[in-house]
Amino acid sequence: MKVTVVGAGAVGASCAEYIALKNFASEVVLLDIKEGYAEGKAMDLMQTASLMGFDTKITGTTGDYAKTANSDIAVITSGIPRKPGMTREELIGINAGIVKTVATNIVQHSPNVILIVVSNPMDTMTYLAHKVTGLPKNRIIGMGGALDSARFKYFLSQALQCPQSDVDGIVLGMHSDTGMIPLTRLATRNSVPVTQFLSIDKLTQVLEDTKVGGATLTKLLGTSAWYAPGAAVSSMVQAIACDQKKLFPCSVLLEGEYGLSDLCIGAPAIIGKNGVEKIVEIALNDAENAKMKESATAVKGTNALLN
Ligand code: 2OP
Repeated sequence: MKVTVVGAGAVGASCAEYIALKNFASEVVLLDIKEGYAEGKAMDLMQTASLMGFDTKITGTTGDYAKTANSDIAVITSGIPRKPGMTREELIGINAGIVKTVATNIVQHSPNVILIVVSNPMDTMTYLAHKVTGLPKNRIIGMGGALDSARFKYFLSQALQCPQSDVDGIVLGMHSDTGMIPLTRLATRNSVPVTQFLSIDKLTQVLEDTKVGGATLTKLLGTSAWYAPGAAVSSMVQAIACDQKKLFPCSVLLEGEYGLSDLCIGAPAIIGKNGVEKIVEIALNDAENAKMKESATAVKGTNALLN
């Protein structure tokens, strides 16, 4: 199983590290445009192998896509991260060109690849990848909901004062500070609805904290987060590599599901060896459906900036 990670920055390197630690891939190729950077990160990571007990071979390359040839999976993290106070959508001017070039180069060397897009504004970058590569729609997946759901579970566990392993929750919609839809109605604490433990006000606070979870970290760190984004995308890579048929909220091309078409937006999908094996239409109530439509309008507004 060969995985390419484009972008050896904090998110890409964290993703490569988590993939290696899980030891399910034979090879990870890190690619960056900064001279020697990917090679250095790969070598540093490889020098943890005897300490951390993995056999995955990590190599780095400066811009040589031939080294990525015949990748089964490719993760696109390249582009600029946001600064404090910025929205993800403001990155489109620079990141669209980068993602277009990267996606084209990846597919040229790995025609059977499954692409996972992380670069922001992620839903629009995922849509762009569909447009520029023409890959079958099941082989392009945007990573946002897995990260947002992890943050949702974190904030729920904080509110519940319980271990995160006892909490489950899913976030749909646009990977943005305003368009995200944490489904508080369906969140559970070991199968018990969290609404039994938390007041409406407390749940609303959890929902709001989740929506700006990325911005909160950007304010603290001075740049976008990387550990949880890297971990989230590595879990999707593993679901594909190991054909796990796991359900993730991820940005997928909708063609009528949820009454939406011609956009990529966070929806529940079964992820396995074929990438998106199935998009799951869960029964949303009127309020949730309205939020989904609102979120879709926001995504399409950002998509329109691609022209
Ligand atoms: C985040 O929310 C980078 O969009 C990513 O942290």
